[in-house]
Amino acid sequence: MSTDRIAAAGDNQRVVIFDTTLRDGEQSPGASMNLEEKLRVAEGLEAMGVDVIEAGFPIASVGDFEAVKAIAERSKSSVICGLSRATRGDIARCAEAIAPAPRKRIHTFISTSPLHMKYKLQMEPETVLQRVTESVSYARSLVDDVEWSAEDGSRTEHDFLCRCVEAAIAAGARTINIPDTVGYAIPEEYAGLIRMVMERVPNADKAIFSVHCHNDLGLAVANSLAAVGAGARQIECTINGLGERAGNAAMEEIVMALRTRQDAMAYHTEIKTEHITKMSRMISAITGFAIQPNKAVVGANAFAHESGIHQDGMLKHAGTYEIMTPESIGLNRSTLVLGKHSGRAAFRQKLAELGYGDLGDNSVNEAFARFKDLADLKKEVFDEDIAAIVDDTAMRTHDRIKLVELDIRCGTVHRPPHAKMTLDIDGVTESRDGTGDGPVDAIFKAIREMVPHDAVLELYQVSAVTKGTDAQAEVTVRLREDGKSVNGQGSDTDTLVASAKAYIHALNKLLVKREKTVPDGIAV
Ligand code: KIV
Ligand code: ZN
Repeated sequence: MSTDRIAAAGDNQRVVIFDTTLRDGEQSPGASMNLEEKLRVAEGLEAMGVDVIEAGFPIASVGDFEAVKAIAERSKSSVICGLSRATRGDIARCAEAIAPAPRKRIHTFISTSPLHMKYKLQMEPETVLQRVTESVSYARSLVDDVEWSAEDGSRTEHDFLCRCVEAAIAAGARTINIPDTVGYAIPEEYAGLIRMVMERVPNADKAIFSVHCHNDLGLAVANSLAAVGAGARQIECTINGLGERAGNAAMEEIVMALRTRQDAMAYHTEIKTEHITKMSRMISAITGFAIQPNKAVVGANAFAHESGIHQDGMLKHAGTYEIMTPESIGLNRSTLVLGKHSGRAAFRQKLAELGYGDLGDNSVNEAFARFKDLADLKKEVFDEDIAAIVDDTAMRTHDRIKLVELDIRCGTVHRPPHAKMTLDIDGVTESRDGTGDGPVDAIFKAIREMVPHDAVLELYQVSAVTKGTDAQAEVTVRLREDGKSVNGQGSDTDTLVASAKAYIHALNKLLVKREKTVPDGIAV
């Protein structure tokens, strides 16, 4: 349902969910997605019932433009939104990218706080105000649905903020977003700001008010919910709270808070919460950002009960220690345990249970072959193992660089560790030998020989997917080049193979990141 339909329906308790995982989320240091990954995410967000998908920032690069356009072409029910600064060039490019979408929105923004206007924009407030009118009017000449944002809104002087909001609405903006760009606000104060603007701006009733909170003080979700209590009816958020610096408000936390605490917050969204686990895993696998075990709603421990007292309570009544059910976020308490005798049908059923029911035949076949290899090595194959396999195979089919073979020699004899490695680079097979201070170093050097780059290795981290000495290793690698960082993940029962995969995954991300021409900090 588009925002106008929501308003027309007069459902004042309905909160519009605006997902910006593909824009603000992708701007977070380390995260970047290729076209196929963005399409998968957009498809998942639409299936989950997201009202507005901010698909990207079309002026940022040809890749961003193409991704927004491809998402717009495939979209059916969600509004597809593109971001643009307050310039005609940005806005025109954005309109072009979203044009194929049945429902489309231009989101244009400019900074309004004294600090940003003076130092970042180096513009006088009156010039900024003029730009608000010009940019929104121009965007409205291209599309009906325009959102205007006051960047650094929470640190903007109230009188000036109200003048800008009034001008934006008068110029045709239907949604007014007051972001807490730097995550500085606290709930009561932020709710007061939204209330003040809605009360003071004479034409406020012509727009839906939106909030966009960053998590620098860990208050993004609390601030967003407080703002809804004050009258905001759109929340901008991301899956897993991905986003610039400490991230944005986490969508899964917002929608589950609204669902769980209907008694205290009588608002509702159209999100099918059963899709949460699948989307959370998808974003983690694509970006290489692991989910902390104690993360609210989607962390591995969110429904785990360790202490005896809690376990006893749970056996007597799940409500003793669970305020929401795992099923409500699509986490099934599965009874199906897979082992080496499990066949393709059971494997497919497990994939569906884990939220991977829509994988194509080729991806299922590839993942099934890896599962069989794993089942030969491990007694029990856990759900986490299957998820790691799928994330490592099906999600990587469009990578430009792929691992073909790895042969390692290490040990205690006085010879340097040696790696012989074969890669597929854009369809061409290449092999190299590398030596190093250790086997991981030898692997990374062999990769660097085949794919020359100046990126610095910032992080190399190994963790186990499950318990036990036969567990798969999950490796995270972070590379940094020209001020941009990317994360890569790889998993395998062999830690060295997982390391090679993680490094290659990060390199694939770097290739995507290199295309961007507008700096991530988005200055006008
Ligand atoms: O944080 C912010 O202010 C933004 C705007 C572009 C909406 O991301
Ligand atoms: Zn933001």
